[in-house]
Amino acid sequence: MKRLIGTLAALGLTALLAVPAQASPEQDLKAFRAYFQKRFPDLKFDDFADGTYAVGPQDRRDQWVSIMDFPPFEPALAKGKKLFETPFKNGKTYASCFPNGGIGIRQNYPYFDSKTGKIVTLEWAINQCRKDNGEKPLKWKKGKLAQISAYMASTSRGKRLNIKVPNDPRALAAYERGKFHFYAKRGQLNMSCADCHMYNAGNRIRANILSPSLGQPTGFPVYRAKWGSLGTLHRRFAGCNKQVRAKPFKAQSDEYKALEYFLTYMSNGQPVNAPAYRQ
Ligand code: HEC
Repeated sequence: MKRLIGTLAALGLTALLAVPAQASPEQDLKAFRAYFQKRFPDLKFDDFADGTYAVGPQDRRDQWVSIMDFPPFEPALAKGKKLFETPFKNGKTYASCFPNGGIGIRQNYPYFDSKTGKIVTLEWAINQCRKDNGEKPLKWKKGKLAQISAYMASTSRGKRLNIKVPNDPRALAAYERGKFHFYAKRGQLNMSCADCHMYNAGNRIRANILSPSLGQPTGFPVYRAKWGSLGTLHRRFAGCNKQVRAKPFKAQSDEYKALEYFLTYMSNGQPVNAPAYRQ
């Protein structure tokens, strides 16, 4: 008996030694994808981009597909295009601030900026562009900023998310911060993002079917019927924090930027299909 315990202890120890102290982002990504593909064996990889409508009942999906034929976000998208193309007072446009004039680049955001050591989201970059050109920044969660972001994202439809976590301790720290936020229990209900969008993905909660985290950022900014407008990913984060009665963070806070960085990296390879319509 003693010998058995000794052997087990030795086995336990070697197992511990074999596990790296911290999984790398690449290892996390592999495990994350594998989890969802095992949970939803009938879904193709690209289907995850459709969120709740990929995992819910067929009639809900059919309804959504028909709404997407004449989507209610078209007017907001047209406004976004106009805003994007309208010159600032100094005569320059948004295009001057972005690679490729801002067209077809959504899939690369958010990214780690090695100069500042910060995570740059698309919304952040849009407001930075305004400031650099002597314009006032826009409100973060909806309205004009969401419209411009949605237009820019629409020019990337079908391109695959391609987020990089370079081997820089500051990038890794942001990634780990986002990962921590995702798995940490919070709020009076003591629930993590993962509790709903991983371990209960596809299950019903009140009138909703929980979307899998894999693919979630692809449709943002989304147009929600409930909002009656476009909203950014950080608007959604705040809503989900509030659902578990946790105090939300500010849009574009380092905390939400880190969460977006982690969540979007985990959806690498998923096709951009923003803006998307949601209930
Ligand atoms: C109590 C359960 C619950 C928790 C916890 C929760 N959410 Fe949600 N979330 C929902 C519901 C319900 C919806 C609407 C249906 C859907 O798309 O999943 C939603 C929607 C979303 C969406 C929009 C998906 C889309 O395709 O439009 C995102 C993104 C999201 N949640 C992220 C998060 C993140 C990040 C966290 C952790 C901070 C989190 N959620 C925590 C319940 C939850």
